[in-house]
Amino acid sequence: MTGSITDAMAARLETVGAVPREQDLYAGDGTDFYERLVGSDRAEIREFLALARKVEGLILDVAAGGGRLTIPLVRSGKRVTAIDLSDDMLSHLRRALPDHPMLTCVIADMRDFSLGLWYELIIIGATSITLLDRVGRSRLYASVRRHLTPRGVFAFTVAGGASAQSLTVARDQELSVPGPDGDETYLFSQQLEEEGAARIVNWVRASDLAAGGEVTVLTSRLRVLSHETLSRELVGAGFAEPAVTPVRTERGEEILLLTTTWVGPAEQMGDHASD
Ligand SMILES: C[S@@+](CC[C@H](N)C(=O)[O-])C[C@H]1O[C@@H](n2cnc3c(N)ncnc32)[C@H](O)[C@@H]1O
Repeated sequence: MTGSITDAMAARLETVGAVPREQDLYAGDGTDFYERLVGSDRAEIREFLALARKVEGLILDVAAGGGRLTIPLVRSGKRVTAIDLSDDMLSHLRRALPDHPMLTCVIADMRDFSLGLWYELIIIGATSITLLDRVGRSRLYASVRRHLTPRGVFAFTVAGGASAQSLTVARDQELSVPGPDGDETYLFSQQLEEEGAARIVNWVRASDLAAGGEVTVLTSRLRVLSHETLSRELVGAGFAEPAVTPVRTERGEEILLLTTTWVGPAEQMGDHASD
């Protein structure tokens, strides 16, 4: 494998004599593609809105991206802070809800954030927790703990069942993605590494493949994680054994929602705990 390009994608580009240019999925051109790929996906919205209805106070959407989940939460009348490492991703959200009084966007790393506020609900959608390695997840849990109100809820999603299984094998396929002038064909490639503990994914627009031409290869690197592993980590980090419930999806993916609360020592929470 070259950098974050899978062997299969590298071979495909070499066959046509195209020159790859790696581009993170969540920056630059990648953000427009991501929004086209998942923008219309309504998965998880119903479940996070249901959790939001039970809270009066602030909600934190971690790795909020273009606001697929943030926007319906804000539109339902909730005050939401959206954090993301990518200003390019957050700019989609800012454009969707310009100067909205119930929305605050903050560029922040989910592995280490200090917002100075406490949230009744902290969410991570789109299985984005799998973007983090073990150390990153442990730092995330500590950051979440510092920002939860005493009875606050932490909820996030991960793939389950056949969807989780499909993340454990190499895969190369063509996908149809909505474009400005109709659907476009993209080549998708997934390769496992670290003995199956992580996966590299690539997308290339088929019409970009040309001899001698530079081709943008959108890339992302994710961990392969089960809900059992994440549940164990949560308990080890001081959270309650999470409730694991299926998310209803229209596209047939199997997604699980993990919902938990802090049950460790109160003094390890944010400053409010000692108030
Ligand atoms: C799969 S997208 C999810 C976007 C949105 N929540 C949704 O449901 O569609 C993952 C997001 O995580 C962000 N991200 C990646 N690493 C991050 C980090 N360390 N801290 C904060 N955000 C991060 C990316 O910029 C991207 O917007």
